Amino acid sequence: MRNLSFVLAMLLVVAVAACKKDPAPNPSPNPTQKATADKALAGKKAEPKKAADTSLPGDPLAGEKIFKEKGCMACHGADGRGNGGVTAADFVKEPERLAKDNKDLLHSITNGITKGSRVMPAHKGTLSEKQIKDALSYVRKQFGSKK
Ligand code: HEC
Repeated sequence: MRNLSFVLAMLLVVAVAACKKDPAPNPSPNPTQKATADKALAGKKAEPKKAADTSLPGDPLAGEKIFKEKGCMACHGADGRGNGGVTAADFVKEPERLAKDNKDLLHSITNGITKGSRVMPAHKGTLSEKQIKDALSYVRKQFGSKK
């Protein structure tokens, strides 16, 4: 009697194991679910660690005058594309530029920034802090990604 129940128990174990191994079609993930998961992941990746301050630090109208009259436009071009990215950053092709925090951009304009053969001189000797803020406001308003 004891042997029989043992055999039956073994049979049950084997049967269960066989069922588990049954080549149950591996259900491919529901496409909608997958897309949602991908989206969630992408959203997570795109999320900046700390949102940059991309507000207008000054008056864009006053800044337009500075941009046009104080030399910014010579390098950056009326269209903000730096003459094809040759004389300055191309704000259209390099949107990450204006995605930077005001603090960083004001620092670049104030103290200058160089990359390879492209040079932006420091403006602290020629423009006031307010003029630099106004000029950046115009650049942001005119060439920043429209949200
Ligand atoms: C002599 C040419 C020149 C002038 C004048 C000039 N820039 Fe630039 N600017 C550049 C170059 C070149 C770069 C990009 C350098 C690089 O690729 O890092 C740049 C970059 C910038 C950036 C992005 C900085 C960053 O950190 O990414 C801003 C904003 C900017 N300029 C605004 C201005 C404003 C406003 C003025 C006028 C007050 C001005 N520029 C005048 C050449 C110029």
